[in-house]
Amino acid sequence: MNKDFLQYQAQTSPYPLGMEVSHASGSYIYDTDGNAHLDFVAGVSACTLGHCHPQVIEAIKNQVDKYMHVMVYGEYSQSPATIYTKLLANNLPAPLEVTYLVNSGTEAIEGALKLARRYTGRSEIIAAKSAYHGNTMGSLSLMDFEERKSVFRPLLPDIYHIEFNNDKDLKKITNKTACVILETIQGGAGFILPKNGYLKKVKERCTEMGALLILDEIQPGFGRTGKLFAFEHFDCIPDILVIGKGMASGLPVGAFTASKEIMHTLSEKPKMGHITTFGGNPVIAASSLATLNVLLNSNLIAETLRKEALFKSLLKHPKIKEIRGRGLMLALIMDTPETANELVLQAKKKNLILFWLLFENRAVRISPPLTISEKEIKEGCAIILALLNSM
Ligand SMILES: Cc1ncc(COP(=O)(O)O)c(C=O)c1O
Repeated sequence: MNKDFLQYQAQTSPYPLGMEVSHASGSYIYDTDGNAHLDFVAGVSACTLGHCHPQVIEAIKNQVDKYMHVMVYGEYSQSPATIYTKLLANNLPAPLEVTYLVNSGTEAIEGALKLARRYTGRSEIIAAKSAYHGNTMGSLSLMDFEERKSVFRPLLPDIYHIEFNNDKDLKKITNKTACVILETIQGGAGFILPKNGYLKKVKERCTEMGALLILDEIQPGFGRTGKLFAFEHFDCIPDILVIGKGMASGLPVGAFTASKEIMHTLSEKPKMGHITTFGGNPVIAASSLATLNVLLNSNLIAETLRKEALFKSLLKHPKIKEIRGRGLMLALIMDTPETANELVLQAKKKNLILFWLLFENRAVRISPPLTISEKEIKEGCAIILALLNSM
């Protein structure tokens, strides 16, 4: 299969991991040779409830039996998306009430940027250095890494950068600013948490200047950090919340949520300010609904903090300099980039799935399914420690 994969499927890097996947269940991915790989990455934080959670599968199958796609987003009233967006609103603080469902994280970012410009009538967008918000043209424009952007220029104009956690930079937010967009916890940069009330200060400055605060919770959302949404840790409610990844426990999805007053502006002047054929797809909405119901009706979210403590107590080694992040969004910061790289590659040979982070080359990602057991955590950590001892 790998030969055809390399020949016919567009590649994103010269060194794909190339595991030949047979099936997946719980915390394990099985390859076509019958090996079980313990998954400490969860499809890069997407498989919130592990692989093929029975309630998610049941919801998807029930919906597929009824109907799949019937109309472009927003025209027909369909129960999976309607029940889902209502349940989401019931679990979000005011004024976050109305959700626009789309197909991916990056599309949700595009929608949020459009909404901020439309609502404020301003064009300036402020993003953080070392942020990652996706790879379509708008999201890419938010990045400050020139080597990733230069060949795709011209990108969106009127974008400026501030340093995450730097209070002095907040003066760059002015009455020309349409929005400030931040990851609640910076992912690709190395799982950096906001410090000293930073998000609250950003929100206050935005409110003072009439700018909107967009929080990108595509990675930390849906329980991964020990709260349903990570902003709940930091006493800051965004004007626009962007979600995706773990929302549907493994199906492609994204969404942005705002108050009725803000969101309403996308439906007039021009009407259909954002159009998407498959947004709110009933199968994906059914999967999202099942995922949210499991999260709300179990102890999984609270348990992520106990599991974080277990990881931190087990993963003590001279080559691990720091463990960053919150809950089950953890990054091991190794002594050198070479150790980090070697650990990911060697772990693969021992049937443990680890991964890199985009911008911090000393980091090794640990973002397992929230359903991972203590026994599985101990098994995986023992592999990591044995590998580090042998390096
Ligand atoms: C914080 C953040 N924002 C946006 C995205 C883009 O989401 P997607 O890959 O679904 O377009 C990602 C994906 O890794 C992300 O981690």
